Amino acid sequence: MKPENIVWQDGHVSREERGRLFGHSPVTIWMTGLSGAGKSTLAFALEARLLAMGHACFVLDGDNVRHGLNRDLGFSPEDRCENIRRVAEVARLMNEAGLIVITSFISPYREDRQQARQIIGTAAFFEVHVATSLETCEQRDVKGLYQRARAGEVKDFTGINSPYEPPVNPALVINTEAFSANENIDHLLSMLSTIISPDNKY
Ligand code: ADX
Repeated sequence: MKPENIVWQDGHVSREERGRLFGHSPVTIWMTGLSGAGKSTLAFALEARLLAMGHACFVLDGDNVRHGLNRDLGFSPEDRCENIRRVAEVARLMNEAGLIVITSFISPYREDRQQARQIIGTAAFFEVHVATSLETCEQRDVKGLYQRARAGEVKDFTGINSPYEPPVNPALVINTEAFSANENIDHLLSMLSTIISPDNKY
């Protein structure tokens, strides 16, 4: 639905001006990958590293957001699409407020991630594929959900009875099997070197 009789109101402070306060250009790091791939672990570790460096940032995490804002949504393709759309809108608002945003959602559909890219803006959107294999995710099975899905107790479970479409040209591919969490955080920080000023003066 397009908004009717509603006019966009411009503030006096740009996102760039706000970002300068924190020494960065506000962007969204969009992590995508299977359940159990390590997205949340990496997202929270990156957040802690960035905060320690003086950068204001915030993680939007699938399991957490589904407790509140998106508690009305399930895992059908339509609900996942709406999940990702709302998260992209929130990320965009947080970027406008000057924050670096790290999202951690399976976001299995290319089309939904493409819509997120459009909402957030291509220049501010860093797609990161946490490419842990299904075999490894299933072996780890931290939440026991793969086992339940294999037993037919969870419907639409990504990788088992619901698809995952890997990114075609991501800004970064993370290999959690070959590298440690710390090494992967270093890779993420290298990716961000163009938007983070070493002397905190973007
Ligand atoms: S997304 O596909 O819409 O992006 P999201 O990242 O928000 O998914 O939520 C995924 C989390 O929900 C998983 O980490 C898992 O703990 C839980 N979950 C529960 N049911 C499912 C399911 N059917 N498919 C995938 N994840 C599920």
